[in-house]
Amino acid sequence: METKVFQIRDKEDGGIFQAAQVLRQGGLVAFPTETVYGLGANALDEEAAHRIYAAKGRPSDNPLIAHISSIKELEPLVTKIPETGRKLSETFWPGPLTLVFPKSRQVPYGTTGGLETVAVRMPGAEVARRLIALAGVPVAAPSANLSGKPSPTTAQHVWQDMNGRIDIILDGGPVGIGLESTIVDVSEDVPVLLRPGAITREMLEKAVGHVRIDPAILGRPNENIRPKAPGMKYRHYAPRAELTLVEGNACSVVEKINELVENDMASGKQVGIICTEETKGKYRQGILRSVGRRSQEETIAHNLFAVLREFDDLEVDCIYSESFSQDHLGYAIMNRLMKAAGYRTIYV
Ligand code: TXA
Ligand code: MG
Repeated sequence: METKVFQIRDKEDGGIFQAAQVLRQGGLVAFPTETVYGLGANALDEEAAHRIYAAKGRPSDNPLIAHISSIKELEPLVTKIPETGRKLSETFWPGPLTLVFPKSRQVPYGTTGGLETVAVRMPGAEVARRLIALAGVPVAAPSANLSGKPSPTTAQHVWQDMNGRIDIILDGGPVGIGLESTIVDVSEDVPVLLRPGAITREMLEKAVGHVRIDPAILGRPNENIRPKAPGMKYRHYAPRAELTLVEGNACSVVEKINELVENDMASGKQVGIICTEETKGKYRQGILRSVGRRSQEETIAHNLFAVLREFDDLEVDCIYSESFSQDHLGYAIMNRLMKAAGYRTIYV
């Protein structure tokens, strides 16, 4: 299949019309959202959803998020809108928040991975909302990466993974946030945070009071910790190299990473280091990539997946990463790093 790329300058761009038509006909379109690039198909068409799984190489028990362009599109997809769901959607939509509701019969099991619930999000990015509105159907969209690779934050990342596998890529430039949306299950009485993102735990609690935390967010899934978002059980966002997180006070972390890098390089390995502006001058060897200033976690979130992909391209053997605070956006950053590392952490 030939994959067409359209540069999109604004929400009136003709490429969006063509892409909407392809979606209506059951095809696949990658498009920018404010979080990461999505790989869209008609959410009400089981066969189209099936094509998404095939293009990504994704296990089909891993449900898709249905994207909508206005609040009136929510009602037909769900059987009820609990008070917390209403409150959260009013407060944070359009934006980087996905809510899980009991699904209506309109939504096929092919989209929800066989679940009785459906995840819904109204993206903040105007191009995404325009595309959905023109398509006239809810758009199922996982991140537009091959399964197991870091989510794409630029159209070039999408091209690397999806060229020849999908119909169209809408190139709207680099995304703003760089980490996938926050997911909250509002299908039961107390809302449950399933995946942290730019709408932070603190922001959710301010809006609706107590929010339960799925223990799988930072813990390694086992027989007692079964993630409620099926996607969180896979080794996710995984770079090819072995990634190890080093946690502790700043000085000891730098010291430890220097020691590890020295050992690995002595045995002929190529080593990458994920560091910050504050520490980048303190490493002696290895391939250094700073993800930004610790005081600006937005920048770190924005750069993280691109740096993981870059280390893949450089074919390093191991990566060491500094770790981050677990408050606010740091919680989402640490969740993605932990999963990319397969929970491999050294405490110093
Ligand atoms: O920011 C985002 O959410 C991006 C952009 C494109 O919108 N999309 C995205 O989709 O990250 P994906 O498929 O990569 O991640 C969706 C996550 C998976 O972990 C999946 O298991 C979970 O959402 N999920 C989807 N439906 C669910 C449901 N009904 N119940 C629980 N978890 C669900
Ligand atoms: Mg994904």
